[in-house]
Amino acid sequence: KKKIQIGLLGLGTVGTGVYKVIGRRGEEMEPQVGARLEIKRILVHNMKKERHGIDQRLLTDQWEDIVKDKDIDIIIEVMGGMEPAKSMILEALAAGKHVVSANKDLIAEHGEELLEAAQKSGTDFLFEAAVAGGIPIIRPLKQCLAGNEIDEVIGIVNGTTNFILTKMFEEGMDFQEALDMATELGYAEADPTADVEGLDAGRKVAIMASAAFRSRVVFSDVYTEGITKITAKDVAYAKEFDSLIKLLGVARNTAQGIEVGVYPMIIDRNHPLAAVRDSFNAVFVHGDAVGDTMFYGRGAGEMPTASAVVGDVIDIARNMQYHCSGRIGCGCYRTLKLKDFGE
Ligand code: NAP
Ligand code: HSE
Repeated sequence: KKKIQIGLLGLGTVGTGVYKVIGRRGEEMEPQVGARLEIKRILVHNMKKERHGIDQRLLTDQWEDIVKDKDIDIIIEVMGGMEPAKSMILEALAAGKHVVSANKDLIAEHGEELLEAAQKSGTDFLFEAAVAGGIPIIRPLKQCLAGNEIDEVIGIVNGTTNFILTKMFEEGMDFQEALDMATELGYAEADPTADVEGLDAGRKVAIMASAAFRSRVVFSDVYTEGITKITAKDVAYAKEFDSLIKLLGVARNTAQGIEVGVYPMIIDRNHPLAAVRDSFNAVFVHGDAVGDTMFYGRGAGEMPTASAVVGDVIDIARNMQYHCSGRIGCGCYRTLKLKDFGE
């Protein structure tokens, strides 16, 4: 194929980032992908909304325009919410389209069903962006670290709450003011209750635990506690002990079973997680062969999340072109002439 056409569902924070990355780098990525990536249609809710820098002709509010389009091979779901996202993804997979999604709410609850639907139709369903924004963590857990018995995955996996706590500790900012800033910067969910009550982190913990322990862990299995009860008094108390408060997501595979939770913890200022500021996330993984590993980067926002989404799209596109994922030497870089190195 010369062109791989994409249907984008949603043009909010993440959708706009995806549109920009593919628009800016689509041509440059061509040799790497083996085809030109092109966004053919974009599904939105409100056709009247003003959208700067977007080709208006691509917009539609009709799902059929996308799912019935035979030229569209890949669907990117960045609308959020359970429905209609779930039905659309299932319909797209059944129609033989590959799907990439950033929708942790949906995946933490119905990930297994969606993966089974993809397997049944011989398509891919990838969701790297659903956990820790731009940080590669799902693929490492499922593939790069697959030779390990992983017993612990622990970290900061919500950018909004980490941003709020950073502002409260470093600038004495009030909770609501910091949340408003996080929302403005595109870190918070459409309903930020999910962020501040630890639900968003809980969904990510469920997804990571499922991938790391090769088990089915769903959101309702995860104990969640947020940061809404943290006051200026708690901040002052932690500071007295040269410590900080961080919202941690914890998944452990113990002899007694799998333990999954999200809760605020007081940590020493010298702890490596203390250095994870603003909207950054960090995930520690312990495996029996590899020992300790740490993944760090931007956990939310337009471009970091788009980076993860587009990475999945490229993976699928390479698979379509070369019948391999392209991650491991399998001929995808065949245009590179090795003899050039020696000349
Ligand atoms: P957002 O800014 O609220 O954008 C949602 C988009 O989806 C909007 O363009 C909206 O259309 C469209 N939409 C919603 N419901 C629709 C429907 N029923 N039919 C057609 N279009 C619909 O959300 P976001 O922050 O980009 O997040 C999108 C997804 O990515 C969510 O699952 C979120 O959890 C996940 N995520 C977000 C981040 C982040 O940093 N923001 C990071 C990782 C993952 P209109 O524009 O017409 O309103
Ligand atoms: N609202 C989420 C966060 C977006 O703040 O981490 C990234 O998943």
